[in-house]
Amino acid sequence: MCDIINDYALVDCRRISFSVVLKLRVLRSIQFSKSNTCHTFYPPIMNPNSRSGLPPGYSLHDGYVSVPDYLHLRSVSGLSSKTISQANAVSTGSWYGCYITYEEPGKESLPIGMGRIIGDGGWYFHIADMAVHPEHQRKGLGDVILKALLWKIHNESPEDGEPYITLFADEAGRKLYYKNGFVDSAPGQLGMAWRA
Ligand SMILES: CC(C)(COP(=O)(O)OP(=O)(O)OC[C@H]1O[C@@H](n2cnc3c(N)ncnc32)[C@H](O)[C@@H]1OP(=O)(O)O)[C@@H](O)C(=O)NCCC(=O)NCCS
Repeated sequence: MCDIINDYALVDCRRISFSVVLKLRVLRSIQFSKSNTCHTFYPPIMNPNSRSGLPPGYSLHDGYVSVPDYLHLRSVSGLSSKTISQANAVSTGSWYGCYITYEEPGKESLPIGMGRIIGDGGWYFHIADMAVHPEHQRKGLGDVILKALLWKIHNESPEDGEPYITLFADEAGRKLYYKNGFVDSAPGQLGMAWRA
């Protein structure tokens, strides 16, 4: 029998109109495989702080982009428009956020990707606002942002309990989330969004 100390994900899920809600339980525990081989259940969370995964010109930062940049990044990447008042609450009401800037030689550095976590810091963590500017997509930047968010939870949530990490996945992000250990939460649980 082989024991490994690792993080792994348990998941289940369901489609609701165009959204899927995904649930990730990261367990810090010793796992035993039934055969004599070790299994990880999803790729281990990598430390994004090495920042070596970023292509030249890109930098990862803790924190939040400015309100105008937030509104711009959401709309340019195809997410629904938000108001300035809504955007004002992002930096004050989130548990953690990170973003990526791009600096072309001789030009000003601009934020081109972001993601954040809304949560209580204890066990409930909801990932939101995952967005990368279309001109910078498919370079692994969304993956770096997601890993940075997961890394923060992994390191800063209480060690004596499991974090409960959720998100609603648009079509564009699903593969990325599956790749990082998320699973559909249905049929065990069905994500819901209130509609006026
Ligand atoms: C979802 C989103 C954040 C992903 O960002 P991204 O930076 O493009 O993500 P990544 O580059 O890490 O991964 C996306 C794809 O690019 C591929 N990729 C990664 N590095 C690459 C590279 N150097 N060259 C080519 N492709 C690459 C990945 O393998 C992945 O492909 P796959 O989907 O076939 O597996 C981005 O598409 C986005 O902003 N979409 C619009 C807004 C949105 O829907 N947000 C999600 C809300 S839930």
